[in-house]
Amino acid sequence: MARLTTIREILEDRVPVGAMTIGGWIRTHRQSKRVSFIELSDGTCAGNLQLVLDPTNPDYQAVAAKLTTGASIRAEGELVLSPAKGQKYEFQAKALELVGEADPEQFPLQKKAHSLEFLREVLHLRPRTATMGAVLRVRSAAAFAIHRFFQDRGFFYLNSPIISTSDCEGAGQMFHVTTLNIDNPPRVNGKVDFAEDFFKEPASLTVSGQLEGEICAMGLSKIYTFGPTFRAENSNTTRHLAEFWMIEPEMAFYELEDNMSLAQEFVQAVIRELLEKCPKDLEFLAAQEWAQPGHISNLQSVAESQFTRLDYTEAISILEKSGRSFEYPVSWGIDLQSEHERYLTDDHVKGPVTVVNYPKDIKAFYMRLNEDGKTVRAMDVLVPRLGEIVGGSQREERHDVLLGKIRAMGLDESAYWWYLELRKFGTVPHSGFGLGFERLLMYVTGMQNIRDVIPFPRFPGFAKF
Ligand code: 4AD
Ligand code: MG
Repeated sequence: MARLTTIREILEDRVPVGAMTIGGWIRTHRQSKRVSFIELSDGTCAGNLQLVLDPTNPDYQAVAAKLTTGASIRAEGELVLSPAKGQKYEFQAKALELVGEADPEQFPLQKKAHSLEFLREVLHLRPRTATMGAVLRVRSAAAFAIHRFFQDRGFFYLNSPIISTSDCEGAGQMFHVTTLNIDNPPRVNGKVDFAEDFFKEPASLTVSGQLEGEICAMGLSKIYTFGPTFRAENSNTTRHLAEFWMIEPEMAFYELEDNMSLAQEFVQAVIRELLEKCPKDLEFLAAQEWAQPGHISNLQSVAESQFTRLDYTEAISILEKSGRSFEYPVSWGIDLQSEHERYLTDDHVKGPVTVVNYPKDIKAFYMRLNEDGKTVRAMDVLVPRLGEIVGGSQREERHDVLLGKIRAMGLDESAYWWYLELRKFGTVPHSGFGLGFERLLMYVTGMQNIRDVIPFPRFPGFAKF
């Protein structure tokens, strides 16, 4: 079969006009006596290609009634410069083949715009829509930009395990991985006997690759992970998924300051690359009714300007002086809620903010204790509309301080023997962070619900397809 020319190659002027074969899915079909038109999409770019058809062509006549929205076709013909306004090319179809019909009585995606809520019920057809097509193309380009960013800077790509026996964040939000019979598990002293399980101990889907990342950074200096992570938190929000992708760099000899600079540089470099590589998709998304006015120019300015840095203590004082009555009252020691984060980013700074030095009691055990004994070298990058997109820290590299924290937090120190050994043998100061891939995509695409930036979202009550 002849290689198909893609609509992207055509619209990006990468193929000369002339004879070629194309294929795709019909968006619209308009028939008239003199000439008929098909708007064709093949999902390779934001634009459609207009096919011009001669209604007297027998090929066409044979199938014309079935050339409905969603049907797939292949066409041989001639790409020409279009005399019509608003499009550079059109395709004069000579031979036309109906490949797969889509009965309009049954096909759920018709010409009219569908709500994003409705599209979440037809995930198997959603990638055919213009919106999801744009999102998925941006998602693919973003993954590539992320690898490029780290590879260009001497980081090694690390595959941290998906199945893990340690709870990195210590929050207990883990999905169990077991081959035990859940209807009737073996028990000892009334408790499930994991000695009989596949791994002979309780295992889970990882919540983060950080701890394994630290192990490898202590051998390779700079690594990054990029993989799926899992949280069994019962958060039914527009910002949480049970399965999301995270990028976690980890760097030996980096302190908090270096970590903050890297996080900013990283987010900005990815935004810049996407603005350059996916302008049409981003413009299409920015033109949707749910997008913020000025979305693209806002991204451009975020990509170029310094993120504001705030000490947690300063942030609390800004919130206290704001005169706002927050649902969750503000005082030193609280964890920042999304309303607080949004006040800082959307109202106070009107841009991204990196908050550092949080109270030790609200952050994970591995963060480096500051000299004040009360705060840790944590950093979160918050952005307007969304709140946190990056969470990270300088790690506690001092063996005794770490052990003290593990004990004080009531964690099982025997489970962290290897993590402690990293501090016993050739310890170095080190830092890292985690960027939520879907949060970044929400930020860049302007989509309002995290379920719309991943092809198959998983959230409480839903793991279909
Ligand atoms: O702040 P978190 O929990 O940090 C960690 O997991 C660290 N181990 C990272 C590190 O230092 N290596 O998660 C990091 C980021 C958050 O800032 C957020 O963007 C995203 O992961 N995230 C989620 N994204 C979607 N759904 C969820 N349920 C998420 N939980 C966290
Ligand atoms: Mg966090």
